[in-house]
Parts: sequence; C-alpha cells; structure tokens
Amino acid sequence: MAKEKILITAALPYANGNIHLGHLSGAYLPADIFARFNRLKGNDVLFLCGSDEHGVPITISADKEKVSPNVIIDRYHESNGKAFDKFGMSFDIYSRTSIDIHHETAKEFFLDFYSRGLLKEKKSFQFYDEKAGMFLPDRYVEGICPNCGYEQARSDECENCGALYEPSELKNPVSKVSGQTPVLKETSHWYFPLGDYQERLEEYVNGSNRNFGWKENVMQYCRGWFKSGLQDRAITRDIDWGIKVPLNDAEGKVIYVWFEAVLGYISAAKELADKKKMPALWRDYWQDKNTRYVAFIGKDNVVFHCIIFPAILMAWNDGGKDQYILPENVPANEFLNFEGRKFSKSRNWGIDVEEFLNIFAADPLRYTLAANLPETRDTDFYWKEFQARNNSELADILGNFINRTFTFVHKHFNGEVPQAAELLEIDKQMLRLREEFPAKISDYFEKYRLRDGVQEIMNLARAGNKYFNDSEPWKTVKSDKNRCGTTLNICLNTIYTLAELFYPVIPFSSEKIFAMLNSEKTGWDECGKYSLPAGHRLNRTEIIFPKIEDDIVDKQINKLGIAEQPVPEEEKISIEDFNKIQLKTAKVIHAEKIPGSDKLLKLKVQIGDQERQIVAGVALAYKPEEITGKTIVVVANLKPAKLMGQESNGMLLAAHSKAGLKVLFLDDNVESGAGIK
Ligand code: MF3
Ligand code: ZN
Repeated sequence: MAKEKILITAALPYANGNIHLGHLSGAYLPADIFARFNRLKGNDVLFLCGSDEHGVPITISADKEKVSPNVIIDRYHESNGKAFDKFGMSFDIYSRTSIDIHHETAKEFFLDFYSRGLLKEKKSFQFYDEKAGMFLPDRYVEGICPNCGYEQARSDECENCGALYEPSELKNPVSKVSGQTPVLKETSHWYFPLGDYQERLEEYVNGSNRNFGWKENVMQYCRGWFKSGLQDRAITRDIDWGIKVPLNDAEGKVIYVWFEAVLGYISAAKELADKKKMPALWRDYWQDKNTRYVAFIGKDNVVFHCIIFPAILMAWNDGGKDQYILPENVPANEFLNFEGRKFSKSRNWGIDVEEFLNIFAADPLRYTLAANLPETRDTDFYWKEFQARNNSELADILGNFINRTFTFVHKHFNGEVPQAAELLEIDKQMLRLREEFPAKISDYFEKYRLRDGVQEIMNLARAGNKYFNDSEPWKTVKSDKNRCGTTLNICLNTIYTLAELFYPVIPFSSEKIFAMLNSEKTGWDECGKYSLPAGHRLNRTEIIFPKIEDDIVDKQINKLGIAEQPVPEEEKISIEDFNKIQLKTAKVIHAEKIPGSDKLLKLKVQIGDQERQIVAGVALAYKPEEITGKTIVVVANLKPAKLMGQESNGMLLAAHSKAGLKVLFLDDNVESGAGIK
C-alpha cells in the first residue's frame, strides 16, 4: 500500500496549570497512539503540539501572584513539556504560542483578512472594571438574569434559562476580578464573518470525501451549532497580553486567543522547519493536498476545531495564496472524570501527570487510560481499576505469558529460539491468529476506535497463554522435545507480534520486550508474519510489569478531596445554596457487603420514623459490624441513585483523612432524624 503523509495535532494546552489525567485521555494519549501506530505502518507522520500561552486566565494568574504573565507561561510550558515527555508523548515538537514565528503567523492571517475587507469593525458596550483597569470577558462578570432572575448569569447569557441579552440588561453586575461593580464602556472590535461560511462548513463537516465519517458525538455538537446559526465573531479583545492587533489605532487590543491559538499548529510546524533547517518542511505537510490532517482534542474544543479553524483556513484559501489543507477528521473525546466526579484542583480531586509519574511508571497509566478512553461517553479513572488493569491484565496476562515463555526457553533451550518442527492444528491456529491481528487492530485504530483496539490486543496475549497451557510444554519437554520447541518458538513469535502491536500503547514496555527478544520492530504490517530465526539468542528475562500493592493506591485514594488551597471566589456558594442540602442524623440499623464490590456497603438507616437504604463506598475502611448501631450524618434530600444495581437513597458523610476514610459518628444519645446546620 502506498505510504501516506499524516499531520497529527493535539490541542495546545493552556500554559496556566498542570495537565491532569483528563487531558491525557481526552486528546494526548489518543493522538500519541495514533501517531506511533502510523509510524509503524510506515506512514510519514508529523506530530505537533505546544503551549497555548495567551488569554485572560493567564493574566489573572499573573496578577494574583504579582508576577508577569511570562513567569506563568514559562513555568507551565516547562512543567507540561516535562510531564508529556515522561508520559511518552512522541511529539516532533512541543512548541509555544509566545514565539515570534507564531506572532508573525497570526498577524499574517489577520492582515490578509483585513486587507481583503473580510473583517468588520463594530462598536459595542462592554463591562469595564475600573479598579482592575480592564475590560471584562463574559465569564468574569456575574449578575442577575433579566429574564429568569438567576443569580449567576454571565454578562450576555444566562446558563439557567438560556436567554441572550445585552450586557446593559444584566442586573447587579459584579466583576469577578475585583468584586466591584463594573461600568459599561464603549469599545470597538474586529469581527470575522463566520456566518458567511455556514453552508460550506456544513458541507465540509458532513463531507464524504474522506476515509471515515466523523464521530457521532462530534457531529452532534456541530449540528447544534449549525442549527442555532453561525454569527459574526469578534476576533479581537481589549487586554494587553497576547498578539497585538497589527493596525494603527489598535492600542491595547490583541487578537482573540482562540483565533490565533489554532494557527499555533501551523507555527509549530514552522518552528520545527527552522530548527531542522528545512524551510519547506512545514509547507510539505500544511500545503500539500495529499496530506491527511487529523486533529485530536477534547469535547470542549469542538467548535473551534470543527467550525472556526476550518472557516479561517477557507477564508485564507479564498484569497488565492498558497492553499492550506483542512482537518480530515477531528476525533474529539468526551471527558474523563475522576472517581465519579469532575477533576478539581481546588478540591484536590484528581492528580497531576507529573505527580502521578513520580510514583508510577507511564505504561500502566497509558494502558489503563487507553482501555477506558471516553470515546463515546464520559468515563472515569478509578485508582482500583488502575491497579486491577496493571495487576490482572498487564502483569497476569501479558507479563505472565512473556515471563513463562522466556523462563522456559532459558531453562530448557539454552536461551535460544527453538526450531519449529512439524505443525499441528493447534500451532497453525495460533499462527493464523497472530497473523490476522495487525490488520484487525489497524481496522480499529483507523476508525479511531482506539479503546476497542487496545482491549483487543490483550486478547492476543490471552490466546498466547491458552496456547501455552493447552500445549503443555512442561510435559512435552520430557516426552517430545521437538514438539516442545515448536510450542516455544510460536510463543516467542507471538510475543514478538505483541511487542509491536502494543508499542503505540505501552512504548516503554514494548522496548523492553524487544530488548529481551534481542530484536527490533519490523513494521506493523509485517509483525504478524515475521519469525525470529531458530538459534537466535535471547537476552535475560526481566519483570516488565511489577504488581502495584494495595497500600500504595490506598494512600492515593485517601489523599483525595483534602483541599490544599482556599476555595477561589468563583467557586464559593451562598448560604441559600448550602440550605438546599438537608443534613440529618441517622441510625444505622443494618449493614452488609454488596457481592461483587469491595468498596460498597449497603446500609439500612433510620431517619426519625423513616427507614431508608443507602449504599456507601466505605467497605474498604469499615466492616459491616463496625458501622451497625452507630449514629451518622446523612444528606437526606439527595436524588436516589443506583450503585451496583442497588438503590441508594441518601449519602453519608465521611472524612477523607490522611489516616483513611473516617465516617462521621455522633454520640449514641443523639436521636435519629435531627436536623444539622
Ligand atoms: N488551550 C485550549 C485548551 O486547553 C486548547 C487550544 S487548542 C488550539 O482547551 F488549537 F487552539 F490551540
Ligand atoms: Zn435566566
């Protein structure tokens, strides 16, 4: 098959915080698996990423710390670059949008559109914070919705009732930056006529001129946008951090971060071209219509990559200069949650990538995330699942297959690949299976079904173990050494295939397996057929997947939710919010384990004269008898939910203390059903 040229980008993370596991499974891991897979296919891959270094949140962080925004972006550009490295991201470059090349690229696009009369200048009134000396972007103003009275409405939009209005209509506006009342001040901005591209964009998104359709979740977001109709969009902002608008009389205005950030993908290729002293390199990808371009992102970025970025490129291409390619696919993922909740820095819910990788190796994390990618719906990271994926799959299936095979060959065949003699049906079956696998996995990966593909690869290791068992080499080694040699030969070659197929997912371990095999990759399409020559010397065995012990994951679980930082202003709740939660005392009348779950206890509790069932995740810390008869605190007005098929009608309170989970127990002489304030 002809080799293809593939440009792969992964969303540029803001240099305003550390990336967490959610980012990895949303965009970065899928992009890396896809890039490594395509390189093994022999395709010509350019894989780009970098830091997104403009935008208001960065200036706010800088103000809070009383440092310049440069300090913030340098800090996070470095730490995120390092974290990606440790995680095994195989970017060709990790660029950043503060570099000159990028400023030039963004200005070039802006000026091209401006000089062709595409941009419209419009005046409008916007909230201005006199104390902070800045215009306030929508999400930094909060007030009362003129339509429904919702108290946390944004400056021009209410997320409660969906109303859109003029900022002047918002009641009691408050600046989230200073807490003061902002004033309305006139300003003018340049608008990109997004609406003019609607028809072409719809055609593009629905396009049939590509290998596979777009993912259904992505199409749904796009349809939503098209349905409400695309509008002109302001592409400038009144702040002083960013790419200055390259016009006279544009003092204090910068290009809107989203307009320029997407162009960062182009700048990243230019930077790489410069570094490699191959000036044409970036055009070879971006301006060659034979390049297939795939943009990996999380769902919150869909509109920018599926609608705005393509429109920008269309607008450029209409000008008749060198033509850019558009994304062939934007396989956006949904979100990864953490132990059933959203990641939250302030609530210490989640874990930074760097911190994670200081404790655990990258591959168990890559494998766990890959086997559970939020490709079609949100998924969760659970510490216990991470441990189980490592111990019961990587170690007990793949690791075990490798280990028993190598140990056997070292012991009985002097560490050399045995000759395959006459093949029986069982051998032929195993060989056929390993030969079919690369095409089978390709099919998944090319359709962006990475999760299914990864889970399927493990099935080859399962089949390998079964083949080993069924062939009983420990018996044939005494009765028929040729038979035994054939079995081990086929096991080693299956391990070879596994090492290559698993390379995109767990590259560090794959390299170790190749080192043990004393061999190298042959390429995806050959790896199911290639045979290690008989007599080939193997290297020493090492344990590739050590088990993860309970205490080390328990320690992580117990740390969760212990806030290390004060709650930021915008996350504080009002007394009315608090009053919505009905806290009541309750007496536990019965407690029992839920079969099949090591975490959950089913409780019967008495709240006044009411009896209720509550399912609580406390089984690791408490035995049923340790909690029966105790008086606890429950949230009495929580919507019922089902956990492991069991109805739960309320929630008990417990501290996630350093010493483990501690349920709040009250004095036994407190009656049940008492209110708590
Ligand atoms: N910084 C954005 C985020 O983290 C992503 C930007 S992608 C880009 O959500 F293409 F615009 F750079
Ligand atoms: Zn409203």
